[in-house]
Amino acid sequence: MKAKCVVGLGLPPDLIASLEQRYEVMHWSESFAMPEATLREWLSDARGLLCALSTPITSQVMESANQLSVISTISVGVDHIDLAAATSAGIPVGHTPGVLVDSTADLALGLMLAVTRRMAEADRWMRDGNWTQGWQSDLLLGTDLSQATVGIVGLGSIGQAVIRRLTGFGCKLVAWNRTPKSIDGVQMLELDEVFAMSDIVTLHTSLTEDTTHIASRTRLASMRSGAALINTGRGLLVDEQALTEEVCAERLMAGLDVFSTEPVPDHHPLLRQDNAVLLPHVGSATMATRLAMLDRAVANLHAGMSGERLSYCANPEVYAASAVC
Ligand code: GLV
Repeated sequence: MKAKCVVGLGLPPDLIASLEQRYEVMHWSESFAMPEATLREWLSDARGLLCALSTPITSQVMESANQLSVISTISVGVDHIDLAAATSAGIPVGHTPGVLVDSTADLALGLMLAVTRRMAEADRWMRDGNWTQGWQSDLLLGTDLSQATVGIVGLGSIGQAVIRRLTGFGCKLVAWNRTPKSIDGVQMLELDEVFAMSDIVTLHTSLTEDTTHIASRTRLASMRSGAALINTGRGLLVDEQALTEEVCAERLMAGLDVFSTEPVPDHHPLLRQDNAVLLPHVGSATMATRLAMLDRAVANLHAGMSGERLSYCANPEVYAASAVC
């Protein structure tokens, strides 16, 4: 009898077919996230779970999954999964680090340029039929990245990839990291100083209890007038209410790929702001990167289903804590 695995998001039919050769697959292919009650029911006798960010895996979900031996998420971030509960239940959690570094760093650069050069606003303005005169010397003026001080918050692989890209622009680079780090051409500062001294602050820390609202109301208020906040990490890194107030008051600009609630509700005030460039969580959304993420997540799933150690495990301590290894 084949072991059962739950696929909690819509995936291409050929991938599902190849999983079906090895497992009994329960596939959630609806366009909306799987309801928790369904997830609990499907997991009650499943050995593996392949999921993504839109499915919160709470301790209650894990309680109803007695046979679960692997959770494999198609994401590098694991903040949608109660890692502590997974570890104490002896369930390894696979994720996909490494393969989305360049795509996400590219998107952060894109947002910096889009915000400072008003690209989305200019596109809307032109499509709305406003370009009735020729070249105008004062049309849609922005600011130069080359003249900016850019503050990088978090010097993991994505933060460092952002720095490599920014080096080519000639801007001044300042940074903060949780643990001391030294990178040529980058001045390390206290976190508060990074916010206060930068024209652009870009967030590249993972979301934990400590980093929730790292871009706090006070730090946002300390930013220079006209400065921009860029977030390609997680929405909850930012006090979104405070940022929204700053953007609506036209004191700050924002380039956001992630939000505290996703999808963003229709009435969100930022949707009406020209000084904010908003993207629907597409940091890793290139064909090559998504295929690499899927490959890594499926390899993690297979390893966990066959009781082997996962190559990319977000809670490696699970192997010390249990006999799984
Ligand atoms: C995307 O946000 C990821 O964590 O992979």
